Amino acid sequence: MVKTVTKYVCQNCGYISVGWLGKCPECGTWNSFTEEVTYIDKRKVNTRSKLKDINISNLTKLSEINSLDENRIRTGIDELDRVLGGGVVRGSVVLIGGDPGIGKSTLMMQLSHKLVDKVVLYVSGEESQTQIKLRSDRLGLGYDNFYVLTETSFEIIATVIEKINPDLVIIDSIQTVYRNDVESGPGSITQLRESTYAVIQIAKARNVSFFIIGHITKEGFIAGPKVLEHMVDTVLQFEGEGTHAYRILRAVKNRFGSSNEIGIFEMTGSGLKEVKNPSEVFLSERSESNPGSVVSASMEGSRPILIEVQALVSSSGYSVPQRTATGFDYKRLAILIAVLEKKIGLHLSKFDVFLNIAGGIRIDEPSIDLAAAVSIISSFKETKVDSDMLVLGEIGLAGEIRTISFAERRVQEAVKLGFKKIVLPEGNVKNLKTINNVEYIPVKNIQDAIRLIL
Ligand code: TYD
Ligand code: MG
Repeated sequence: MVKTVTKYVCQNCGYISVGWLGKCPECGTWNSFTEEVTYIDKRKVNTRSKLKDINISNLTKLSEINSLDENRIRTGIDELDRVLGGGVVRGSVVLIGGDPGIGKSTLMMQLSHKLVDKVVLYVSGEESQTQIKLRSDRLGLGYDNFYVLTETSFEIIATVIEKINPDLVIIDSIQTVYRNDVESGPGSITQLRESTYAVIQIAKARNVSFFIIGHITKEGFIAGPKVLEHMVDTVLQFEGEGTHAYRILRAVKNRFGSSNEIGIFEMTGSGLKEVKNPSEVFLSERSESNPGSVVSASMEGSRPILIEVQALVSSSGYSVPQRTATGFDYKRLAILIAVLEKKIGLHLSKFDVFLNIAGGIRIDEPSIDLAAAVSIISSFKETKVDSDMLVLGEIGLAGEIRTISFAERRVQEAVKLGFKKIVLPEGNVKNLKTINNVEYIPVKNIQDAIRLIL
């Protein structure tokens, strides 16, 4: 007996309703409900007697389970291994999201470059075998244990996995995969959820690792965002500014490592190259002699990266002046401008302010506040900041400069690249070792900072 059930599913969060709704009561999204029909075959339902015969393989004593760390596969791409927390854990499922054309497929093709003793299965529902071969030729790759399967039916994919017993499976992309036993249309959130669920089951049962590629919707979410994020072990986001060659791989969630680690790549004619010295790269095109350019250091996961903050303050032709932030939080910029106005009387209401983090990287760390504020003042006053000066510090609403974390690591990175004057919060200075030829300039508040820097 087959019964059909019609339900309405929010395509954003997966909320299920018996009737159509204009607005999702769960996530508040408008017009996100679509009709999905499910067929329930009563004969397929497991009865208790059948369940008795099932071989229970997933019940183990804790003491008999291998520790995960020994069970990581190093991909050979250090920047990727770093983001994963030291390689991909066997039996784990990693979701990689990113805009179309950012380089997800390229990264996945390159991934297996050094995995000569591992069997890798690359499942593509988007490109033909010839296209894949062309890409691999372009990347100069050639390996024996790399299988390509152009297939979208989950049942067939599962059969192939059983047959060739791979160590690593790449699914490009999860949106193209469909399950025959799930009667919702391909690409629907139910299909997406069920396919991912089935992938996770195979990963755990066979101890095989999966990378699954997920597309990003217009809103910047991985389609079926929260639903998938909760299910998988690790979520990586591949991002970059369209015009820059640099790509940042960011861990958004990681059950097996730190979730704020980043990996940096450059897209070249022959694929993605790892950026081993990010500080040098991000400072390489610095406009040292220009007002508005200030260098700061941001902690990205476990490593400090030097970045150039650029500001341009110009008289505005509009009644409402423009404020633009690239790679920097817009609201934070508004706060900094308000603090500058209130505390040092810098009136910017007739000026446009543009703030940019050079190189296309996005920084969410408050310790570059002071650098941003100084760059704005520097551009406004047309006075340049010394080119061997590093500026660190978070700015509070009262204009005070707050202590930052990992001061020593940041200073070391700057000194390595030849910086001689380090401006930093007073509270941080006493904990730092003196370094030959390096001058610490402690600051307490924004007024202090301006007097000492400009
Ligand atoms: P791709 O990996 O197909 O992106 P995604 O899978 O995220 O959609 O990358 C496509 C882009 O990368 C495309 O614009 C061409 C560019 N590219 C290079 O610049 N160099 C290369 O060696 C390769 C393979 C791609
Ligand atoms: Mg692709």
